[in-house]
Amino acid sequence: MAKILVIDDDSSICETLDLYLTEEGYEVQTANTGTDGLNQFVESPPDVVILDIRLPDIDGFAVLEDLREEDENVKVIMITAFHDMDTTINAMKGGAFDYIHKPINVDELEIAIKKAVKTLEMEKKIDGLLMEPSRSFKVGDIIGTGKGMREIFKTIGVVSQSRTTVLIQGESGTGKELIAKVIHHNTAPDEPYIAVNCSAIVETLLESELFGHEKGSFTGAVNRKLGKFELARYGTVFLDEISEMSLNLQAKLLRVLQEMEFERVGGKDRVKVHARIIAATNKDLKTLVRDDKFRDDLFYRLNIVAINIPPLRERRDDISLLIDYLLTKINLDLHKRIVSVSDEMMDIFMKYSWPGNIRELENLLVRAAVVAKGQVLVRGDFPELMEENHGVGREEHGKGNDYSISGRPMTLDEMEEHHIRKVIRENSHKNKGEICEILGISRPTLERKLEKYGIVFERE
Ligand SMILES: Nc1ncnc2c1ncn2[C@@H]1O[C@H](COP(=O)(O)OP(=O)(O)OP(=O)(O)O)[C@@H](O)[C@H]1O
Ligand SMILES: [Mg+2]
Repeated sequence: MAKILVIDDDSSICETLDLYLTEEGYEVQTANTGTDGLNQFVESPPDVVILDIRLPDIDGFAVLEDLREEDENVKVIMITAFHDMDTTINAMKGGAFDYIHKPINVDELEIAIKKAVKTLEMEKKIDGLLMEPSRSFKVGDIIGTGKGMREIFKTIGVVSQSRTTVLIQGESGTGKELIAKVIHHNTAPDEPYIAVNCSAIVETLLESELFGHEKGSFTGAVNRKLGKFELARYGTVFLDEISEMSLNLQAKLLRVLQEMEFERVGGKDRVKVHARIIAATNKDLKTLVRDDKFRDDLFYRLNIVAINIPPLRERRDDISLLIDYLLTKINLDLHKRIVSVSDEMMDIFMKYSWPGNIRELENLLVRAAVVAKGQVLVRGDFPELMEENHGVGREEHGKGNDYSISGRPMTLDEMEEHHIRKVIRENSHKNKGEICEILGISRPTLERKLEKYGIVFERE
């Protein structure tokens, strides 16, 4: 059970919380001063700290800072007697996990503690995933190690504490739906998760899918039908490919987001929305806004919390981990015992541009696993990747200047990345300065581009 440290100068509060929380099954320590609290924290680190802002010796904010210095991930719930925004905002800015007001409502406190413990568990799980050398994976894990992915894990942790709207942007196959499901699972696992693909359905149908309709509201509406927003209850509505929604429906969705209420098609009753809305797109909504294809007010509403998933080619360090993970999954599904991919394939994978991202990697591995004869997937197991128009072999064989991948022309960015990688690869003995010279760019420009494309280049 989780360990809790209560720091409050009011002994009666300490005693009451001690009694109550012990009863609830927590292990409780108490301290009446900031100094004592800090000492206890160091001696026997708790999972959660409940901290009063007004303390006799040190200011609660300073204690918070010290606690966070000891352990950056400590979960501190601040108790504040002041009902003003500033104290709260300062507490949250200072890295408090949550805050509750005096007089303490124990239910509210319990909810905050439970959330803190849950977040801690999730962070540990993620850390474990990142650090453990030989892991056993679970389906639904999100694999990622770089800074971009870590930020995403953090955001998932934060949004799982609330019901804020989330916008997930990323190329096709980067894991948008996976992330939506993880957020749902961490927020309201027992409530429905309902996905709606906004591009798959014609406008009028989509409207009644989302909002439902009353009996007789249009030909064919023989019964009242509940829409997804209602069916999702306190769960999640996942609006996939939101960019494809018509401007007309965008206006209606905006109203729902603003008022958290709507009317069924052909109805007058106002229906409340309790579900969290997660929208996803593989297009750049900002560009669509600029081209008047997407409402800017809706964009800002959706974009309150944005998760931008980097494409696989910008986080190649994850490829090998992803392969381990996907092979575990594939072995389970197909009753196979594939151990790895060959070094040669690994080299090819590391250079490939992955336009279809993780889904493409997964599909390739599944198909290879089906035909593979051995336990290691070799070049011959990936016929389509080697095909003429697939770009992989081509890049290596330098077949001239047909700059295409997967049968489509490269974008300028892809071409630039491709060229930089090629120059670095072909000049393995040269240092950064010399590479700059070959490319005809300055050092800062090179640094910027390396960062942009996620190219690791350690030579000075
Ligand atoms: N980081 C990841 N770790 C493990 N598996 C992943 C990760 N990202 C994606 N996947 C897997 O890749 C596949 C594609 O992911 P998902 O369907 O979530 O992508 P998407 O962004 O919604 O794609 P699309 O835009 O084409 O709908 C899924 O099987 C998913 O489980
Ligand atoms: Mg998807």
